[in-house]
Amino acid sequence: MCKNNNWNSRFLGLRSPFQSWCILIGIHSENGYYFYTKRWVQTLKNEQMTELELVIDLHKNSERQGPGSEKDTLKALRFMNLPTAQYLKVADIGCGSGGQTITIAKNLNGQITAVDLFPEFLDELNEKSQNLGLTDKIVTLEKSMDELPFGKEEFDVIWSEGAIYNVGFESGIIKWKDYLKVGGYMAVSEITWITQSRPKEIEDFWKHEYPEIDIASNKIKLLENNGYTLVGYFYLNQESWIDNYYKPMEARFETFLKRHDNSELARKVVEDYKAEIELYQKYKDYYSYGFYIAQNN
Ligand SMILES: C[S@@+](CC[C@H](N)C(=O)[O-])C[C@H]1O[C@@H](n2cnc3c(N)ncnc32)[C@H](O)[C@@H]1O
Repeated sequence: MCKNNNWNSRFLGLRSPFQSWCILIGIHSENGYYFYTKRWVQTLKNEQMTELELVIDLHKNSERQGPGSEKDTLKALRFMNLPTAQYLKVADIGCGSGGQTITIAKNLNGQITAVDLFPEFLDELNEKSQNLGLTDKIVTLEKSMDELPFGKEEFDVIWSEGAIYNVGFESGIIKWKDYLKVGGYMAVSEITWITQSRPKEIEDFWKHEYPEIDIASNKIKLLENNGYTLVGYFYLNQESWIDNYYKPMEARFETFLKRHDNSELARKVVEDYKAEIELYQKYKDYYSYGFYIAQNN
């Protein structure tokens, strides 16, 4: 049952598509517990598709569904001292259409279990991996990240770019630790303040959208308090947001709207993303995705 009394109003009053994955399929409750539900959202009269379906549709056929880059993925990989001779087991949680999965597969000796809630993205990843001859290295799994069927200490590496917020950073690093071998690595990117202070508007916005947002030192403390040793940290530069995520998305707006006959709900989805992009442009010096690479000790 929903623990958050504000669930409906927050849901329907959706402001930021940044957290749309989170807001559309789960919400943060007061006590820090996240839940997931595949509830269909707001369907306007005569609309064929739900808002969630439209958000997924907007993100289809794109390199990535969040900020990041091949360079960032490779940089995170380099912090890990992985045995080259050994065949490694990797989980990529919230993989989307697999921008980072492909990079990991090309640069690591092992098999990646790429998990996402939405088959639309996994189908794209399967197609890409077939075209690239990577099917022996990438196995897709349609599952929610809060009910993973993994065994104890099954993986050498757990990877999650721009997705751990769906269960919450602290909850994710605690829960997923069970699946990680001792000495194995966790690599997660997470929305992070990159300055000690910031304008009230952006502070209030993020505190509302994602109360777990924090400065990196506090996130690192959480890792350390939960049995990890930090081996690397960096934050994504603005190119990873603008050139790799927002610009390609903006380029899809027109065809997306045409595809949906310029419907009211499709226009709302686009307007919400435009507002998110504007906010990022205004406050990009204050937040980014921090990339945390930590070893399970
Ligand atoms: C911001 S996107 C990041 C995707 C990809 N890692 C990237 O960086 O391009 C977040 C991803 O998390 C997935 N997701 C959201 N909630 C999920 C859940 N409960 N379980 C598994 N995946 C989920 C979404 O489908 C989406 O692909």
